[in-house]
Amino acid sequence: MIDTVYYKHDTGRLELIDQTLLPVETRNIECGTEHEVAFAIKTLQVRGAPAIGVAAAYGVAIGLAGSDNQNEPLEVSLDKICKLLISVRPTAVNLSWAVKRVQKAVLKANLQNNFEKAVKIAVKEADKIKKEDIEMCRNIGKFGAELIKDGDSWLTHCNAGALATAGYGTALGVFRAAKEMGKNFKVYVDETRPLLQGARLTAWELMQEKIDSVLICDNMAGSLIRADKVQGIVVGADRITSKGFVANKIGTYSLAVLAKYNGVPFYVAAPTSTFDLSLSYDDEIVIEERDPDEVRYIKGVQIAPADMPVYNPAFDITPPELITGIITDKGIIRPIYGQTIPEIIKS
Ligand code: MRU
Repeated sequence: MIDTVYYKHDTGRLELIDQTLLPVETRNIECGTEHEVAFAIKTLQVRGAPAIGVAAAYGVAIGLAGSDNQNEPLEVSLDKICKLLISVRPTAVNLSWAVKRVQKAVLKANLQNNFEKAVKIAVKEADKIKKEDIEMCRNIGKFGAELIKDGDSWLTHCNAGALATAGYGTALGVFRAAKEMGKNFKVYVDETRPLLQGARLTAWELMQEKIDSVLICDNMAGSLIRADKVQGIVVGADRITSKGFVANKIGTYSLAVLAKYNGVPFYVAAPTSTFDLSLSYDDEIVIEERDPDEVRYIKGVQIAPADMPVYNPAFDITPPELITGIITDKGIIRPIYGQTIPEIIKS
């Protein structure tokens, strides 16, 4: 299995597969400071909601290990490191959820400025978060695979695979589990402009797993669905509110509308760490806007006038009425109205 976020316990450094280079080159990078971890998250060397949470959790430990305990109280250093890591990407709740969990574990230990002990506690908590993420993904896979029938074709968007998590994946975990069950099915993959996570990463993962798959450009999804070529759609999520509004990669909402119009089931696969029960409605979610050059250029090749104004939100929001069900590690939530989400997530 791909080890997307690998903390080297002997050197205290974080090894990541540089996802900006895939699939052309498989190269690992190492982060030795919290700033390097923050940079890797910002530039999408590591990406996907659960994966950035796990990376940032280790980032807290790495930051503490590099802190000068002579000059500053532990709580102050810890707070600065956590704030830095949380600030790099606003939409995926897994990032702040994981960082705050590590921060809480360190503070709870009441360490009297013992930085060495604080690092150990932070690493232990990050290890736990990573292990739990893989377990949650496997459970999502188990529940979701039941939806896939022999001979089906499904469509997915962006990359919600092993690369986007600590391993196994959420939406791609569903396909992995279905394959493990011996099912025969095909996966259509949206290329996912502007940064092509579908074409570069999902296609790469599915090929590695030898899962029958076909790549399409984003604007082909409508005709594919209308031609009855897909029996279901499954995508990942970056944040899900208590009322079932789902933030995910830009283009997800369009797929959900297409699915509803054409009567195709539309599923979201997400671990409990992606639910933000403190929010209810779509307008409470902060959507990250990224560099306009991500739209004007593809892999350094200019494809639009250099000064062309650009709109580049990285995510959109899909309302609950377009979602058939949310596949979680605790089971499939449907229908997703009223109290169902808080009840199941807190159980
Ligand atoms: O900008 P990215 O590549 O981090 O966006 C990733 C997505 O939108 C994924 O679908 C989401 O994080 C779920 S990953 C299991």
